[in-house]
Amino acid sequence: MADTERVAVCPGTFDPVHNGHLDIIERAARLFDRVIVVASADSGKRTLFSVQERAALLRASCAHLPNVEVDTFGGLLTDYVRAVGASAIVKGMRTADDFQTEQQMAMMNRALLPEAETILLMTSPEAVYISSTLIKEVQALGGDVSRFVPPPVAAALATKTR
Ligand code: PNS
Repeated sequence: MADTERVAVCPGTFDPVHNGHLDIIERAARLFDRVIVVASADSGKRTLFSVQERAALLRASCAHLPNVEVDTFGGLLTDYVRAVGASAIVKGMRTADDFQTEQQMAMMNRALLPEAETILLMTSPEAVYISSTLIKEVQALGGDVSRFVPPPVAAALATKTR
């Protein structure tokens, strides 16, 4: 059988990318030949950063990972996954609370595109309490978030709340 490149898509809102996301992206990069991290323009959430800013922060934060690239997408995730020929959607799961939402999305995506598997990686223990929402709240209230986010994100957050 001919060797085919194994491609995974890591989708998310990434507003902004934090160390928990990066942990999942790095682990996906060890499992797949090529990983495309995609920032959603249509996740239905009001975001602090524009989709282009979120993608730029992802690029800066993933620069050390040679098989990882960053893109943006609008519309259905499964249309994007089909278009790039990926065989998997990789996401992180922090707690049991995440499970219900992730399971529902995985089942809908499977109904829409049965040939793509959703793979949920358990978030590493040290990142379980980190979320983009809490990072923005702590930053807005004057707390130091630099240990939870890659350096380019810490710098970008500082300019947003200055
Ligand atoms: O970081 P998030 O908020 O968990 O990411 C959610 C995201 C962007 C992966 C999800 O909202 C999504 O896939 N949106 C694209 C629209 C879509 O395909 N909706 C149906 C998915 S079940």
